[in-house]
Amino acid sequence: GGTGRFSLDAFRHEALSEVGSTNSECLARARAGDSGLLWITAGRQIAGRGRRGRAWTSEPGNLYASLLLINPAEPQRVASLPLAVAVAVHAAVRAVLPPGGEPLEVKWPNDILIGRRKTCGILLEGEGLPDGRRAVVVGIGINIRHMPDNAPYGVTRLADHGAGVSPEELFAHLYKEMAIVLDAWDEGRGTAEISRRWRDVACGIGEKITVNLSDRSLVGTFAGIDDRGFLMLDTGERAPMPIAAGDVFFE
Ligand code: BTN
Repeated sequence: GGTGRFSLDAFRHEALSEVGSTNSECLARARAGDSGLLWITAGRQIAGRGRRGRAWTSEPGNLYASLLLINPAEPQRVASLPLAVAVAVHAAVRAVLPPGGEPLEVKWPNDILIGRRKTCGILLEGEGLPDGRRAVVVGIGINIRHMPDNAPYGVTRLADHGAGVSPEELFAHLYKEMAIVLDAWDEGRGTAEISRRWRDVACGIGEKITVNLSDRSLVGTFAGIDDRGFLMLDTGERAPMPIAAGDVFFE
């Protein structure tokens, strides 16, 4: 990072050996008055959480990290935070993978895939605090040595792609890349740059996809993303349909 709010030395880091969930721990710290820019990592989680209420299996050997932000931006701009986080996590994983392997890509909005199999999940959570502040927690789980054996989608782990890295080494890259990207994201600087970097590493643009929304599914061509980070789905209507949240499936 540069000299702004999210410069490299503005962050604190607490490494725990074991915790329920690093996301829950960050939220608890926020409720207790923490001022944010706090990273919490854990060697293992006993109640790791994924998106849509799913559990996130968290054995020792993978990376479990959460970043607490307090009032990071106005709500409208927080919508583009998942893209910024995906770009940073992608760069951190890129740094530890040997060149020339299967493609390392981002799946909308912010899964990280190797060879189209998921190797990293990101869970963003927000909470209004009693004192009027807003806490946003960015939770990142990266499969290094382990992966779930019962996932409803293809999964992989860095160790199977020649990255014999420790969680600590990978976290050092993540810490740095997040500071750089958040610094650019802050105050709207770098929005275009972040969406360009996201598109450069995105998988499936131009392909036929199914998007599961909470109440229905849509089929169309993945036309790209807009600067808010919404998925643009070409359903054959005159203008592509912007989608704020959903699960994407490729053919
Ligand atoms: C997903 O379902 O894709 C998101 C998974 C997010 C897992 C990470 S591990 C660190 C942090 N703490 C949690 O309880 N979840 C996130």
